Amino acid sequence: MTNTVSTRPAHHTTPRRRWSWTWVMLSSLAIAGYFVGQYGEGTLDELAQRNVGLATTYADRSWPVQVAFYVHIVAAGLALALGPWQFSKRLRTRHWRLHRWNGRVYMVTLALGSAAAFVMSMFNSVGISGFFGFAALAVLWGWTALRGYKAARARRFREHEAWMIRNFALTYAAVTLRLWLGVLIMVQLPFSDGREFTDIFDQAYGPLPYLCWIPNIVVAEFLVRRRNLPSLHMTSPPADARLAG
Ligand code: HEM
Repeated sequence: MTNTVSTRPAHHTTPRRRWSWTWVMLSSLAIAGYFVGQYGEGTLDELAQRNVGLATTYADRSWPVQVAFYVHIVAAGLALALGPWQFSKRLRTRHWRLHRWNGRVYMVTLALGSAAAFVMSMFNSVGISGFFGFAALAVLWGWTALRGYKAARARRFREHEAWMIRNFALTYAAVTLRLWLGVLIMVQLPFSDGREFTDIFDQAYGPLPYLCWIPNIVVAEFLVRRRNLPSLHMTSPPADARLAG
């Protein structure tokens, strides 16, 4: 995989881009606030009795897994709440110190969140296929952040932006997972024929370890290309692009 250098002018903030950013920011804050907040309303045992979220999956686990669960939801929740601000042009240009500090905190929350997510992926509620989906997400989440961080340290800012778009698309899996879950529950309802809701829920949850992030990373690559940032190549770039790079 090789990176290319673009020749088109730098991008500007258009109304469409502002709306997209506002949607991403509000949906991220809503999911971080609601889904993480619900686990603060009691112990995992109490929440499991009320069937809150995935409390039943983790209430009977050993304490290290439960610690991973809490580290994950708090750290990943923070990453989701902090991430969108990094794409604000105003923050990047006028308050660049804030961009740097927010970015550092984001990296720390992400390191904790992804390590804990990797642990949790071994105990997820889907089973072995869920492990591969969630573990791949956890590894890619950390790896894209590392690439983005290294590019920023080396002052390769266009490459940094491209990696952080890919990285936040993975963070945003927390939002898309819940959106897909709603959609996949709803499409089953007309054909449910008196099936238990838990059965409908389990059927909807099955594909989510993959569906929550694979489309996101495709959209991210599309955005990287549309912004004319260095994109990924699965084949060797043409000779003139290699020379330009
Ligand atoms: C992008 C990398 C992420 C990975 C690999 C990941 C992985 C996981 C895994 C494996 C579980 C357990 C699922 C199960 O048992 O079936 C989980 C649950 C959870 N995650 Fe993440 N996660 C990620 C990002 C996030 C983010 C950004 C948030 C922020 C809101 C978040 C919040 C939660 C919450 C609240 C749960 C508990 C389940 C629920 O109530 O829906 N995760 N995550």
